[in-house]
Amino acid sequence: MRLDKLLANMGTGSRRDVKKLIAGRHVKVNGATVTDPGLEVSPESDEVTCRGERVQYKPFVYLMMNKPGGVLSCGDGAPGVKVCADLVGDDYSFYELSPAGRLDADSEGLLILTNDGEFIHNIISPNKKVKKTYYIRTLGELNEKDIEAFKEGLDIGNGEKAKSAELEIIKSEKGASEAIVRISEGKYHQVKRMVKACGKTVTYLKRISVGGVELDPGLAPGEYRELTDDELTKLKNKT
Ligand code: URA
Repeated sequence: MRLDKLLANMGTGSRRDVKKLIAGRHVKVNGATVTDPGLEVSPESDEVTCRGERVQYKPFVYLMMNKPGGVLSCGDGAPGVKVCADLVGDDYSFYELSPAGRLDADSEGLLILTNDGEFIHNIISPNKKVKKTYYIRTLGELNEKDIEAFKEGLDIGNGEKAKSAELEIIKSEKGASEAIVRISEGKYHQVKRMVKACGKTVTYLKRISVGGVELDPGLAPGEYRELTDDELTKLKNKT
């Protein structure tokens, strides 16, 4: 990879900033100052420093985003359609990010964005049974019978059956409920369809954790940060 590309991709600055840094003799490769921005370097084995600081090459990046409502988890860049990856700043523009488990356009909460395809596969594969937790509000009061129905598994239409899941009711009064739902699969509109199978309607849905990693309460809708090493290890150990 070209030196200027590596530095720009790893967030040192724009291609132009990076060229200036190189011309200003601030960049070293394996201890030697270099002035050619087009120098070919190996991101894995060459040691690149800028102003004495190591520029670490990361082949994969893992972001935790608080997905806002009204934005698609992913998409094909159709005009006028906002997609979560568009909310991610230039520092990550090198990476082609996809969600590890989608959320509906009107759903909010924890969305993990990464360019690691194997990680995505493992998080969403029903065989791996990675638990996803949702906070929901419903129209219609959820009750003990619904808790049992979730536990048994529900026919959610189109010939599909949702496996055993947990429903924990927080509040059920005046024709509405608040609850926590824990599922280990990710069928299309799964939570909404499970609630519908109980005769109620989801009016709000927010994913609050995946594989025991919780949405950072410090992230406002649309904000994101990299997963910590502990969070990433936790998720990788789950799969
Ligand atoms: N289940 C749903 O119905 N919608 C989501 O966005 C996620 C889970």
